Amino acid sequence: MTGVTRRGFVAGTSAAVAAGWLSGAAGTAWAETGAPPDEDGSRLWLRYPPVSDRGLLDAYRRDLQYVVTPDVEGPIGSAAGELSRALGSLLGRDMPIRRKVDGAGPLVLRTAESDAGPESYTLRRGRVDGTAAVIITGGGDRGVLYGAFHLLRLLQTHAPIDRLDLAERPRNPLRLANHWDNFDGSVERGYAGRSVFGFANLPELTERHATYARALASVGLNGTVINNVNANAQFIAPEMLIKLQPLAALLRNWGVSLYLSLNFASPMILGGLATADPFDAGVKDWWRIKITEIYQAVPDLGGFLVKADSEGQPGPISYGRTHADGANLIAEAAAPHGGIVMWRAFVHDFNALEWSNKAYETFKPLDGKFADNAVVQIKNGPIDFQVREPAHPLFGALPNTNAMMELQVTQEYTGQSTHLCYLVPQWQEVYGFDTHADGSGTTVAKIISGQTYGRDLGGVAGVMNFGDDTDWTRHQLAAANTHGYGRLAWNPGLKARDIATEWTRQTYGNDPTAVATITDLLLGSWQTYLDYTNPLGVSFLIKGDHFTPSPQTNTAWHQADAEGTGFDRTVATGNGFTGFYHRPVADRFENLADCPDELLLFLHHVPYGHRLTTGTTVIQHVYDSHFDGAAEVGRMRDRWQGLRGRIDVKRWADTAERFDRHREQATLWRDTIAGYYFAASRVLDERRSWVQVTPTGNAAICLIGGRENQVRLTLANASAAEAELVAGLPERDGWTSGTASLVLPSKGDGTVDVPVTPSLPPQVLTLRPTLRSGDLPALIAEQPVITAPAGGRCLLAVDAGSATSPLLEGYRRLSPADVWADGAPYGWVGGAPQSRDRGIADPLLRDFVNDTRARTLRLTVPAGDHELHLLTGDVHDSFPTTVKLDGKVVAVSEFLLGGSFAWLTISVSGGRTVDLEFSGVPGQHWHLNGLAILV
Ligand code: GCU
Repeated sequence: MTGVTRRGFVAGTSAAVAAGWLSGAAGTAWAETGAPPDEDGSRLWLRYPPVSDRGLLDAYRRDLQYVVTPDVEGPIGSAAGELSRALGSLLGRDMPIRRKVDGAGPLVLRTAESDAGPESYTLRRGRVDGTAAVIITGGGDRGVLYGAFHLLRLLQTHAPIDRLDLAERPRNPLRLANHWDNFDGSVERGYAGRSVFGFANLPELTERHATYARALASVGLNGTVINNVNANAQFIAPEMLIKLQPLAALLRNWGVSLYLSLNFASPMILGGLATADPFDAGVKDWWRIKITEIYQAVPDLGGFLVKADSEGQPGPISYGRTHADGANLIAEAAAPHGGIVMWRAFVHDFNALEWSNKAYETFKPLDGKFADNAVVQIKNGPIDFQVREPAHPLFGALPNTNAMMELQVTQEYTGQSTHLCYLVPQWQEVYGFDTHADGSGTTVAKIISGQTYGRDLGGVAGVMNFGDDTDWTRHQLAAANTHGYGRLAWNPGLKARDIATEWTRQTYGNDPTAVATITDLLLGSWQTYLDYTNPLGVSFLIKGDHFTPSPQTNTAWHQADAEGTGFDRTVATGNGFTGFYHRPVADRFENLADCPDELLLFLHHVPYGHRLTTGTTVIQHVYDSHFDGAAEVGRMRDRWQGLRGRIDVKRWADTAERFDRHREQATLWRDTIAGYYFAASRVLDERRSWVQVTPTGNAAICLIGGRENQVRLTLANASAAEAELVAGLPERDGWTSGTASLVLPSKGDGTVDVPVTPSLPPQVLTLRPTLRSGDLPALIAEQPVITAPAGGRCLLAVDAGSATSPLLEGYRRLSPADVWADGAPYGWVGGAPQSRDRGIADPLLRDFVNDTRARTLRLTVPAGDHELHLLTGDVHDSFPTTVKLDGKVVAVSEFLLGGSFAWLTISVSGGRTVDLEFSGVPGQHWHLNGLAILV
């Protein structure tokens, strides 16, 4: 990437950003040869290839000959610079910037106060100083910038401009990007590399930062929270504030305000106070002084975002205070500086039964108690960005509180960077949801914009999908979500097809076949994803990675048993959730007969034979949607194949590779979910027959590396006749395996033991079994596996747990009773931890040592350099475990959903004792299940 100096950015923008930003193939060859030159996706939708339509080009060239700007600094200067460079490229000739009208064809930028606000603009034709001109009039500086990008959109999409006359204003005051970027540069739920901000290199800025700011501005986003809601307090340490200044200045030039996520315990972490109690005078003082210091560094900082008392984050509840007390503490300190606090309503404690209700029950009683400069930030649905959820019942429940909506642009639960899943239709469904809070027509869009309750603060935040991958989003079509998020934030009333078409034209050019195909692929993809993943509103059919299908990991969410499936959230017989909505929504959700099909299993538990409004039974719908959805992905892949030669080869091939993986994953989803529901219901599919293999337990199994094991697989016959089934395990590097067979009647099932010898080093992986049965198709679900090295082939092999629970063969016991003594192989120093035994079958996975406090294990490590392997996890959800070696953090596990485990590997040089300190996030347990050092 071209390095551009920091000074260049901060000084006026027409000169800023230098020449680098148009580097790469600009597309001239395309017009001349008909073959689009390769591109790498780094310019997103801000490519400005020469306009190929001769007639349009002539018209554009006649009307747009130079830019007239009142300012070369700030957002207007950025607008002038962008127009000059982009039009220069689109029109294939110089586009000078002038300070006044001077000859034919001026494009005039100006501001004029407007009732529509400073971010509004008009795009018109008129006369300036007697000369016919195209005029962009902003209600303020940002308005000019947004108008400039609008004009560029018209040219990029080959729209005529001879009758320009339009007026635009944003519907939402806050239109923010939220980044879950960590201090160390990693990105929580990021699927396109590391942080785009390069925190470690700040204050140094690159061309990439400028492209980022331009991308946000181009779709009208006006703010960005640059760090994770699971916030590291170091972001507001004095050293960091200084480093952030140039970034804030660059963003400011593109109309983007910088915001920071705060750690509520900062007064303790940074200030050394003994409490973070919002009512404590010392705590109040600390925040007042700290926030003043922050505003000295970045005077126009937008404000703060806080996640409190959720998933282990500190917050006011531990001090007996409310969320409003917590929010008002920060709001009060920020108010003198014009700052705001966005306080998240996402509070839950991982209990499936309570999750949907917790935020409503916590925040509803606090309505009216939040400061004027506080906004409650509410996720689109009551759970957590599932593929489909009803709109959050808090929308419309807080008439006396500022409210905004949080959407997830990064595809945590919607296929990450592998599946194409265009979320604009999903978001439109939520924006358009009629809460009936203030009579019919009280849509979520009207509530969050502030319109319904006459509030000035409100809007939308999108958890971003950008990373430092060259193409920003890894799946290049996922950038359409970034674009679409911004366009809807500006105006939720835009049509999904128009947004998708606009992005496609901007990103891939105006070839009609390419435009039609890509637009169709985008628009159908969310429904298709729903079809082959989560039927009828069921959620969490996945593993802890939030990617891999695994209905057995968290059965509480779908509650599939022999009779039926779904989560009863009714008032009459369920957890009461439907009662949170206003009538008639509450009635519609409560009554089975009126419940919309697409939310049926989110709201009700029904028998498999229950008929949908389509007349199909629930179980048949599960089968049909999964088979049809997976087949549709095959067609999507083929349609992309058909675009070869219509767009540049590089970007085509990158996405073709994604579609290949997408197809594999969709098949895996189909097999896993259809197989699971057949196993549960024993209802044959009316249209199809198959045999299937599913994992036997509901969690990962443990195999011993370096010797033979038997893997138990459950086979079933979902055909109308008897069948012989032969199951096996795939050949993997260093593994050997055999097969096993079974004859099953129609609808019958049974288990087989397949021999396998894994390689020695510990691994966490999924095995994809094989299954044959004549001509019958086979549905194959994956088996999650943890391997542990054979004890006899380790220098040290330890199974951690209670003092009495069973031990893995060849492993030594580590329990709380092992207190360090000189000469011992290991033992606890300075206090022993607790232990738990969950009582499942596997000796290694069933139990562990754990604690909420940090504990230290001293270990005698044999001479030489070794890798020390540490196993962590639980049958229940487990929070990250941090390991320090001799005082330094050497490993941190991820949050693991129940039944998931991870091996952490650290390097140690031996011939000495080492101290391993285990700790968790505040208030949560760390886990250690075992450790091993190979010979
Ligand atoms: C989800 C996500 C977490 C994130 C959390 C949040 O649970 O998996 O990574 O921290 O949402 O929104 O705070």
